[in-house]
Amino acid sequence: MAPIADQHPMVSLPDDHPGFSDPEYRARRAAIAAVGEAHVSGQPIADVHYTPEEDEVWRVVSRELAVKHRRYACRAYLEGAAALTLPADRVPQLREVDERVHALTGFRIEPVPGLVPTRTFYGALARRTFLSTQYIRHHSVPFYTPEPDIVHEIIGHANMLANPVFADLYQAAGEASVRATSDAALAAFSKVFWFTLEFGVVHEDGELRTYGAGLLSSFGEIDVFRGAEIRPWDIRQMGTLDYDITRYQPVLFAAESFERMVEDLTAFFTGYDDEAYERIFA
Ligand SMILES: [Fe+2]
Repeated sequence: MAPIADQHPMVSLPDDHPGFSDPEYRARRAAIAAVGEAHVSGQPIADVHYTPEEDEVWRVVSRELAVKHRRYACRAYLEGAAALTLPADRVPQLREVDERVHALTGFRIEPVPGLVPTRTFYGALARRTFLSTQYIRHHSVPFYTPEPDIVHEIIGHANMLANPVFADLYQAAGEASVRATSDAALAAFSKVFWFTLEFGVVHEDGELRTYGAGLLSSFGEIDVFRGAEIRPWDIRQMGTLDYDITRYQPVLFAAESFERMVEDLTAFFTGYDDEAYERIFA
């Protein structure tokens, strides 16, 4: 999930986090964060030794999500997932995901210890690099996470980045974020990203399907997004509408076709800068 505000690497957990009172989980979070912390861009990615319990969380969630994807995911996402072929029985190593995504689309996946500042996250996309956390959600609630974890990053985003159409779109988004030098321009850009690449839906073969990593990695929300208030594609509205990350999204924007979404979003990203912000959103 794209971070929405500057935040420090998350090793301390908020008190309503499912792993807050589990010292073992907190220690795992710290150990996994240390691997991301130690990573040097361009160097090989060190493996995380996931526990059997963590592999089980991945197994359960990825099996259930794969079933739902057949029903709710757009074709381009399913093609990316088919090309990437993530393991279903264990948490994948970022090293292997990075190698495979890079071979398919030239995108890189790099580990970070936790949420990174908004500009850092989007700026990396301009270099065809996706910054990914490596920890996994708490085993007591395998279908819920209050923060982006490796399930969201890899099942949501990496499967998309394995499709060259999405890879180019992510890069164009990153470049737009770099040209958005004012905080206001970046904030509006982030909202468009949220309502498209995180929670976007599209009419495909007479049904509403999703291309949003947030929906594609959410076990509960993917089942109900068709019941949200579906508004027609409107970038100006997306960039000015507030959203709440702690609940299912009550409003989604639907593109009339996948091709149209790619065309319109590419045009928006490639033309975006501080001046475009003033013209479109201010
Ligand atoms: Fe995300």
